[in-house]
Amino acid sequence: MKCLFAANWKMNKSCREASEYPRALETQLKDVPFQIGKDYDVLLAPMSLQLAELGKQIEGKGIGLAAQNSGPGKSGAYTGELSPASIKELGCRWVILGHSERRHVFKEDDLLVLKRAQAAMEEGLNVMLCVGELLQDRKTGSTNQVIEAQLKILTEKKLPPDFAQRLIIAYEPVWAIGTGENATPEQAQEVHAFIRQWFSDKISAQAASQLRILYGGSVKPENAGEIMAEPDVDGLLVGSASLDPSVFAGVIKNGLKSKTVGGK
Ligand code: PGA
Repeated sequence: MKCLFAANWKMNKSCREASEYPRALETQLKDVPFQIGKDYDVLLAPMSLQLAELGKQIEGKGIGLAAQNSGPGKSGAYTGELSPASIKELGCRWVILGHSERRHVFKEDDLLVLKRAQAAMEEGLNVMLCVGELLQDRKTGSTNQVIEAQLKILTEKKLPPDFAQRLIIAYEPVWAIGTGENATPEQAQEVHAFIRQWFSDKISAQAASQLRILYGGSVKPENAGEIMAEPDVDGLLVGSASLDPSVFAGVIKNGLKSKTVGGK
């Protein structure tokens, strides 16, 4: 499986800083003997108003773009929202949905996440669906139930028939996001394996074997290698450590060392 490193910049970076990033990242990755887009994937998720400029800056670099959210309908009375078609027009193919900050700070529930996913996929965008438990859920042993409840929107027959091929799941324990306390590789593997099994049972075995499942939550160069060494971790969703291109490149380099890439 092709591994993926995604940078979620959240509400950070000026437009100028954002536009300079792809070139800086490319320079930092010069000594990596693999090709972005061919051997492994890199996705940048800037603030939406930077997507157009970044679309130009990533040209020819193999890097992909993701929006951090998209509207719950194709068009219409949704003040403050972004239409999936316009996102796509800018050359952006991906959208992150159900991020923990959307769920917990902005109180988005599963139904709203499903509406967003439905509109995005119907307009041709691919979806990175984020799931993850609160610390309380982990303490009470209900992690898997919480993840299962968040995945359930995929079984409601609202998404296009080919949705599984256009989906990535990002497992991000809420207690690990921005806290400096990452899940241990074993904890990540346990939940990733649960997600893959759930997919196999509820969607299809084939879709499960092809599904990319990313881990996110306090990923940094120092822990990227050990987390990526787990068999069901196919990539990383990186917040703080993605803001500086040299640090993000460190995450990518250490992560790649743990996987077979391009046959090596
Ligand atoms: P973090 O954020 O790497 O800063 O913990 C990850 C995320 O929210 O996607």
